[in-house]
Amino acid sequence: MTVTDDRSITAPDDSSTAKRTVTLKIRRFNPEMNADPHWESYTVPFDPSDRLLDALHYVKWNLDGSLSFRRSCAHGVCGSDAMRINGSNRLACKVLVKDLGPEISIEPIKGLPVEKDLIVDMEPFFDAFRAVKPYLIPEGHEPTRERLQSAADRERFDDTTKCIMCAACTTSCPVFWNDGDYFGPAAMVAAHRFIFDSRDAGADERLEILNEREGVWRCRTTFNCSNACPRGIQVTKAIQEVKRALIFRRF
Ligand code: FES
Repeated sequence: MTVTDDRSITAPDDSSTAKRTVTLKIRRFNPEMNADPHWESYTVPFDPSDRLLDALHYVKWNLDGSLSFRRSCAHGVCGSDAMRINGSNRLACKVLVKDLGPEISIEPIKGLPVEKDLIVDMEPFFDAFRAVKPYLIPEGHEPTRERLQSAADRERFDDTTKCIMCAACTTSCPVFWNDGDYFGPAAMVAAHRFIFDSRDAGADERLEILNEREGVWRCRTTFNCSNACPRGIQVTKAIQEVKRALIFRRF
């Protein structure tokens, strides 16, 4: 798809607020109206404490109600507002406008079909997540008391429990951009969380799945995923640990 030219919309002047302004350059696409995406620019006022999500709300509520994007919690918990901000995947609710420069480019995350503006179809992402069986597979009959786990065993997979499934990691991965069938980092993080859980008996099953053509061996260790994760999960390290588990399982 070709991205065509700009349109520019400026907030009405209100000298009583005397706020600083920033230009949001947003990649717009409405499949019912446009053959190709195009850029539109909006000049909006902001306070030092405003997050990019606040600026997007300003556009939607004051300048252009047709702008579409996802958000829910607005506090970095639900993971629904991952987008490409100045070329990097971030959560719009976790970055301050003042830290992003006078002109901010905003695009949908890459590698998933765009439904409208900043909204992508997340189903291929969730398909990969479901494929790795992201749930506890216990051994034997249901126990009559809780399954005990030592603090050290719990620590083994603590980092990968933090995932909020925002897809920032998977959609920053060049391998995923070129091959949407690749499971992608987020699915491997979900698998890691259970493979290394001492209470789980499904590790072999998951390792077998990740040993397939579209599994862990396609990772090129670019670290894009670790850099993109808004929760600071060491995603590349988790993938390496899954690879190592596969190798040691063989021998
Ligand atoms: S809106 Fe929920 S993580 Fe940003």
